[in-house]
Amino acid sequence: MHHDWFLSGKYGLFIHFGLYSILGGEYNGKRTDFLSEWIMLSLDIPVKEYEKLTLQFDPVHFNADEICCKAVEWGMKYICFTAKHHDGYAMFRSYADPYNSFDNSKCRRDFVKELADSCRKYGIVFCLYYSQAQDWHHKDGYRAYQDNSKINFRRYLDEKCIPQVKEILSNYGDIGMIWFDTSMGMTYQESKELVNIVRSLQPNCLINGRIGNNLGDYMTTQDNHIPAYPIKKPWEIPATLNSSWAYKHFDNDWLTPENVLQKFLNIVARGGNYLLNIGPKGDGSIPEESVKILDTIGMWLKKSGESIYGTHAIDTYVYEAPNLRFTHKDYELFVHVLDPHRFAGKQISLQNIANTVKQVNWIGRSDLNSDNMLRVSKTLDGDPYWGLNIPENLDECMVLSAKIVTEEKDFIQKML
Ligand code: GLC
Repeated sequence: MHHDWFLSGKYGLFIHFGLYSILGGEYNGKRTDFLSEWIMLSLDIPVKEYEKLTLQFDPVHFNADEICCKAVEWGMKYICFTAKHHDGYAMFRSYADPYNSFDNSKCRRDFVKELADSCRKYGIVFCLYYSQAQDWHHKDGYRAYQDNSKINFRRYLDEKCIPQVKEILSNYGDIGMIWFDTSMGMTYQESKELVNIVRSLQPNCLINGRIGNNLGDYMTTQDNHIPAYPIKKPWEIPATLNSSWAYKHFDNDWLTPENVLQKFLNIVARGGNYLLNIGPKGDGSIPEESVKILDTIGMWLKKSGESIYGTHAIDTYVYEAPNLRFTHKDYELFVHVLDPHRFAGKQISLQNIANTVKQVNWIGRSDLNSDNMLRVSKTLDGDPYWGLNIPENLDECMVLSAKIVTEEKDFIQKML
């Protein structure tokens, strides 16, 4: 299987977009206090009522080229789009089920096709989210937190899930990964059946951890939960910028760019990929707040990308160092200082790192002198000691990153 783009890419764009985006978390004057893409279930909207949203669905500002162009600017290497979420509405032309954005909408558009074409044009790996077990439109799909004892799940699999999974893997060229979600009561056999279909149609397509029954190609963490320690096999975290995946017009709980960057460094330092979400509005436009945050991170990545892409997890640095994050590639160690202003003009000590230093410089800061930035010495007890000299004047700076080229390929720590 071809994993390289995933392992080195580190950063992807999740897009939650569908009929629920029109509601923005509010239906008939009632606001959901849960995820906005769950509104149909949470506010108990009858299928026939929810279906009426198709009559209005006309996202004139949804522009796949623009999204891909932005994703490139933001430094993202892949896009994962909701082909069908739990509400059961397909965002592509499905021959298996007419409840889709081409056959049943005001706009008559195939969003999967539009994005597939744009991703190819902009060199982004195209991936699709597909809710394989929950489907609130098909009467035999699972519904979370409700009695599912009467459903004929086999019928749903045969009538909708399997044909649609085949469609998305057959009609849109190469799919980098298929992102399944909430497997609920699926049996090993049922998950395995989907895996076999993916393998037979697109042998290089990755399968995320939520296929169920431990059959994924890599680990998917809980939403927004960053592992506390390095994990050396491939993993990914799906994450939001506010408190919902799909657009929620009254959710102003935005992270700051600093928050996002710190999370990003935590994730990458521990070996993971950051799948960061936007929820376009009902008209297809991307919320301004998201754009601002992602622009800022994109600018940082443009200068500091070498410390992120292609890095892998290393052992945790042996000492408590709440302000330091380490990323690593063969022969290259990157030390990121969070909140660097706190340390302006001071020396940060890095102890018991036994690598031999060949060369050092500040990343993305041609204005800072690199000559005396690292003092390499030993403690009085003979332990390795590095002193990182933080300059006085840092100007605007969310994190200060040092690149340390070493003789040795690996990161070596030694306690005497
Ligand atoms: C959850 C939710 C869903 C969302 C997903 C993203 O499991 O069910 O709405 O798409 O997480 O990770």
